[in-house]
Amino acid sequence: MVLGMADSPKPLSECMRGRNSAYYKAGGTRIYEDFSTYAQSEEGLLTRAQAREFHRWAQNRPKPYWRVAEAGGGEGAFAHGFLQELKALDGKSGTDIAGRIHYTLLDFSQPMLKKAKARLEKEGFGSQIDTHEWDASGDEPPLPFASHDLVRCNELLSDLPAQAYARMGEQLMEARYDEKMNPHLLPAEWQALNDLERKLVLALPPKYILPINRAALQAALALAASLNAGGKLDVFDYGFYLAADFDLPPQMWNDTIVREFNGQWTADLNFLYLSAALAAEGWSTRVEPQEDYAKRWKGKEEGKRAEEGLDYEEEEDDIQEDDFFYHLRVQKQ
Ligand SMILES: C[S@@+](CC[C@H](N)C(=O)[O-])C[C@H]1O[C@@H](n2cnc3c(N)ncnc32)[C@H](O)[C@@H]1O
Repeated sequence: MVLGMADSPKPLSECMRGRNSAYYKAGGTRIYEDFSTYAQSEEGLLTRAQAREFHRWAQNRPKPYWRVAEAGGGEGAFAHGFLQELKALDGKSGTDIAGRIHYTLLDFSQPMLKKAKARLEKEGFGSQIDTHEWDASGDEPPLPFASHDLVRCNELLSDLPAQAYARMGEQLMEARYDEKMNPHLLPAEWQALNDLERKLVLALPPKYILPINRAALQAALALAASLNAGGKLDVFDYGFYLAADFDLPPQMWNDTIVREFNGQWTADLNFLYLSAALAAEGWSTRVEPQEDYAKRWKGKEEGKRAEEGLDYEEEEDDIQEDDFFYHLRVQKQ
């Protein structure tokens, strides 16, 4: 393919940054018309599972109030499911946890923050939420240092500008993208990577484009810095972590590692990179499939459905709806 100067392929991070900001900040964007997430899936199993875990945890740590923050909260579905489930659990067990949560929504999109606020007010949670404009790929720290019991995000980090590399034998290649989202592999210097990134690219199979989600790492570090001593950061997103994830031919992998939804680009989250880099910064990390996490915290009434995955849709081919969706837990060591 011959490309002119104007359409020469660009680093993935550059392609993602402008597009995603324009997409999410536009007043007319209806995200759930363009894609689905487990936050808004009808049964809300993921957010309810987390509410159950939090409810158990909070009962053992009585406090006048708890601080929870959510980054990239979209239209407020994940917040709503969480608070609603806590309220239901309070009703069943005679506790008073839901009403004593102060919930902060962080997003770089004013329209998203407004929609989330309106939804939570309508559902009766207005007095306990606040909204804060924050760009997760900027330099501004999101929240006061060491203040949160729980910070959560669903499908935010995969939206943040990522770099992308592949190894061809001993040669490092950078994946650059044209306007049509075709990857072009161009020779790059190994010095473009830091030690950890280099080790990872050398340890993983050649020919596969590997996102190095540097902005996601910076955002996770900033969010983790806002945790108090016993606090947890939970990242829910899609990407790769297990060896079995590479059971796809490289061509198929490379064609789907970056996806487009109505003009917005999203890149798989490299959970190996994220967890190793956070651990190198002194955080304790654990990654597991979201399905395992959700099953562990399912309620009794859902026990009979425990063999089903996170979602409730038909399985297509050999790939289940919830394959490639992971939960990363970050805590102080
Ligand atoms: C894929 S949507 C997910 C929404 C919701 N968490 C869910 O799971 O349904 C991504 C959300 O992250 C926000 N977002 C994307 N990039 C961001 C950035 N750089 N800083 C802050 N928020 C961002 C978007 O505005 C949107 O609300």
